[in-house]
Amino acid sequence: MGRTNEPPRLPDGSFAAWSRDRLATARRGADECGDVWLLEPGVYVAAAAGPCEDVLRRAQDFPKAPSPLFPPLKRSSGAPTPEERAHAHAARMRGLRPQAVAARIGEIAPSTARFTDQWPTDQDVEVLPQVRHALAEIGVRYLYSEDAPSLLPLASQLFMAREVLARPSRWVWPRWMPTPARRFRTRQQVAFTDALRPVVRRRRSTGRLGDDMLGQMLRPSPRYGPLPDEVVLDTLPGITVATFETPSRAAGWILLHLARYPRAESRVAAEAALLPADPAATTGAHLDGLPYTQALVREVLRLHPPSWLLTRHATRQTQLAGYTIDAGSTVLVCPYTAHRDARQHAEPDRFQPERWLDDPGAAARPGAFLSFGTGPHGCEGAALAMAMLTLLTAQTARRYHLSEPPGPEPAYQVTTFEGLTTAGLRLRATPRG
Ligand code: HEM
Repeated sequence: MGRTNEPPRLPDGSFAAWSRDRLATARRGADECGDVWLLEPGVYVAAAAGPCEDVLRRAQDFPKAPSPLFPPLKRSSGAPTPEERAHAHAARMRGLRPQAVAARIGEIAPSTARFTDQWPTDQDVEVLPQVRHALAEIGVRYLYSEDAPSLLPLASQLFMAREVLARPSRWVWPRWMPTPARRFRTRQQVAFTDALRPVVRRRRSTGRLGDDMLGQMLRPSPRYGPLPDEVVLDTLPGITVATFETPSRAAGWILLHLARYPRAESRVAAEAALLPADPAATTGAHLDGLPYTQALVREVLRLHPPSWLLTRHATRQTQLAGYTIDAGSTVLVCPYTAHRDARQHAEPDRFQPERWLDDPGAAARPGAFLSFGTGPHGCEGAALAMAMLTLLTAQTARRYHLSEPPGPEPAYQVTTFEGLTTAGLRLRATPRG
């Protein structure tokens, strides 16, 4: 196939503009160039619902690179085969599917309630570290139950390693080079794995596998048999961080919206009044009784998808929205612009949680809601994330009215490098009368 048609490009050196302000340039690209545009030779942006959905679903043409975050420690067996990947995915999903999450709401709710109990009132507080701590507690407990206390500090270290790795660097080091950040990452990964290994061995040898996520992973699958211990140990550092890293970015945006939209906050508070006084008594039915809170969480995720840009590479020359994409090209999938497209959502820049109540099927429309991705690599933890965030939101609004600090200083800075984040967000909690 010869070279055919190329998508449009922003007129004024779009890569320089991109480096300065990625969100604004993404919006300009979508507005001025259309559904697919060229950022620079060999780098395309899928900016609208249709092409985003298309790229994410066509995993053969646009595969996802293996996560470089916590690469397997033992490389002798090479990259996992598709069969091994399917086996590990099935094992994780036994613990993460919506029914599994719904059955454990009573374990999640106490930590979200503790977060609100511990929020210092009537003063400006930097929110994200506290939220992250609360969500890490929930995530690690969800994965490892009674083994969680010894693993929680190591999970925080894993997160720190991730932060260090994500710091922008002037150089792009070859993947094999052991930079200080990578050595730190490997040390933390080894420490975590060394602490987890005896837990796995003990559970296997006693036959008491546990009902938590680790226990689900250790159960043999009817189709594939047991998952080898080394695969369990290689998979869990990444999953452990995933339980609280992106959710805490999302929580920052949600709490900011509670502060900015007091009517929405009051509506959440009214729903939350029906939650049981003892958080441990909260059930899946209580969560189902918070439809407005769930819609608010979804609406914030629509406007501010923490994973606002997903990367894929074309394995062969192919077509996307009528354009030719060369083999080896990068395709950036942009849920952020897809979510702000008036063809998908009326008044797309407006914060309007009701839209999800008025049109309950909307989230399932192809490309309409991509905050958790879609297709074979869609988020495995979406149900857990929605449960944690809904409970955190409801319990916060039940206790407090939030506000941004007075004065000219912005309450946060938007960063986009490792995810869309309200960096440094400060808020004030005033107890509800
Ligand atoms: C608000 C919270 C969250 C958001 C916005 C989010 C978003 C996403 C997105 C967009 C993807 C797809 C990435 C891609 O296609 O390149 C993804 C994948 C993934 N997420 Fe989440 N996530 C969240 C919470 C969680 C939680 C709590 C877990 C816990 C287990 C989790 C585990 C994963 C895993 C394992 C994948 C990789 C799936 C694969 O590659 O096959 N996520 N997430």
